Amino acid sequence: MCGISGYVGNGNAPEILFDMLKKLEYRGYDSAGIAYITGDGTIHLPKDKGKVDEVRRKLRPERLKSTIGVGHTRWATHGAPSQVNAHPHADCSGEIVVAHNGIIENYVDLKSELSELGHKFKSETDTEVIAHLVEHYMASEKSVLSALEKTLERLKGSFAITVITSREPDKIFIARNESPMLVGLGVGENFIASDAPAFLSKTKKALILEDMDYGFVSKKTVVIKNLSTRKEVKKKVHKITWGASEAEKEGFQHFMLKEIHEEPNAARNALSAEKELEEIAGKLAKKTRICFVACGTAYHAGLVGKYILENYGIPAEAFVASEFRYSTVETMDDKTGVVSITQSGETADTIAAIKGAKKKDAYIASIVNVVGSSVTRISDDVAYIRAGPEIAVASTKAYIGQVLSCTLLSLLVARAKGRISAHEFEHLKSELKNIPRKIKEAVENRRINEIAEENASTKKFFFIGRNINYPTALEGALKLKEISYVHAEGYPAGELKHGPIAILDQDTTVLAITAEGKLRDKMHSNIQEAKARGAKVITVGFECDLDVPKTDPLLSPILNIVPLHMLAYYISVLKGLDPDKPRNLAKSVTVE
Ligand code: M6R
Repeated sequence: MCGISGYVGNGNAPEILFDMLKKLEYRGYDSAGIAYITGDGTIHLPKDKGKVDEVRRKLRPERLKSTIGVGHTRWATHGAPSQVNAHPHADCSGEIVVAHNGIIENYVDLKSELSELGHKFKSETDTEVIAHLVEHYMASEKSVLSALEKTLERLKGSFAITVITSREPDKIFIARNESPMLVGLGVGENFIASDAPAFLSKTKKALILEDMDYGFVSKKTVVIKNLSTRKEVKKKVHKITWGASEAEKEGFQHFMLKEIHEEPNAARNALSAEKELEEIAGKLAKKTRICFVACGTAYHAGLVGKYILENYGIPAEAFVASEFRYSTVETMDDKTGVVSITQSGETADTIAAIKGAKKKDAYIASIVNVVGSSVTRISDDVAYIRAGPEIAVASTKAYIGQVLSCTLLSLLVARAKGRISAHEFEHLKSELKNIPRKIKEAVENRRINEIAEENASTKKFFFIGRNINYPTALEGALKLKEISYVHAEGYPAGELKHGPIAILDQDTTVLAITAEGKLRDKMHSNIQEAKARGAKVITVGFECDLDVPKTDPLLSPILNIVPLHMLAYYISVLKGLDPDKPRNLAKSVTVE
């Protein structure tokens, strides 16, 4: 996601802030900006779309003089990459400036409340409401810190926030909830960053903020409180022993592992797109045909959507874009709704498929991660999954966002068509809210590591599942072959006996994905068939070998995939491979 930098001391803040942003480039971004206060108390706010070096070149920070400021690299979530949407953002007076990493889920309500009070907004971002909220509370509060406290009470969502203001020009105010934030402790100077590499060349001593911590940092003082008690918290000073590249991964060995640990947050963020999905669902419900179109992992998420719609008696299809674009596209018309799913928004086959469908007057809705990408410009409507930048080639947290969005979208279509009872809809929606916590539990299951060790040298893998977990089988197999280079096939469990069972033997491991519900017993019979041929069977699901928490069977694909992501990761590492950069693969496939 976005990167945050902050500096207060005796050095030249603009230069230091850009140096720090450079070290955070790996996090992915589309815009960069800084805000700094000069001796006369004025806040300067240069920012633009583009690379840190480009923005820096235009500004020549070595000429600017200031000892306090904040910086930001933006990875767009609300509003396309542009100068006006780049951070930091100011209030109406220009005296309060905020940089933010995360998502303010209730920003629409806050924006309309503040607009009614006369606040003027310049950008499309969720962040700008924070600057105006602080401005609003500063009118009645005695200090910036108490205005910040009031502001934090109003925010829902994830945030790491830095605030500077000409009212207290020697302090950087900070707050964190669910987005990372560290304070680097120097001598006569202090640093703030989303990640330690930003200040490792200056200091290795750091405070790590916890959820709902807030406070301020000046040249010689750091005060941290927690919103639960409003009392000062004594923070432990951490000595950072990692090198810069480990620190980029926040201590994880690989980006893929870090991104798997971000899956709970990815699920939470995808749920925040309910309004966009509801609008799309209303339009899809009026169509006679609904087609999910995507490539690779994203296609598997579309398949889950198809199964959910069918569960409610709504006809639906899912297509691989490279096939769709040359045949099915000819059958498109204005009664068809196409849902494209893509992390990058730049996949050539997906773009060609939706362009073709659009020419035939189909309605195009897209579920996308990268804001402002090509697919978002072609589509009639877009829902963002807001998973943050995915750096590892193998898609993990974006798949969680995609499968959750396809699930919620399909439930909303079923509701718009009157195919699901209000009671069932509410039950599933409230269970969806528990999913982030349950993903976290699944990620923390230590047994996965052992199972990976026992199977690291296996040559043949089968992943089998039925109905809504058939896509989970496909996705589990894809992940394993992508990063471990072993043969893995995903199969509908009922198809085993129509051919593939011939190659099962004692050198084969079968991953059997189970779920409660009408097909549970049938799945058990398939497991017996595999065991009878000598294959080793590992069950995946609630109370299984690769265990996940219990959930509604319709939501089980979101949990069942988590241990399979981990398994693929561990097997790759045990084989001595680099899971982040598998051979022959590119993160976005922009050619046919
Ligand atoms: O960016 P997209 O979601 O459109 O990418 C689609 C596929 O190329 C992608 O999911 C690919 O299969 C991943 N490497 C899977 O991990």
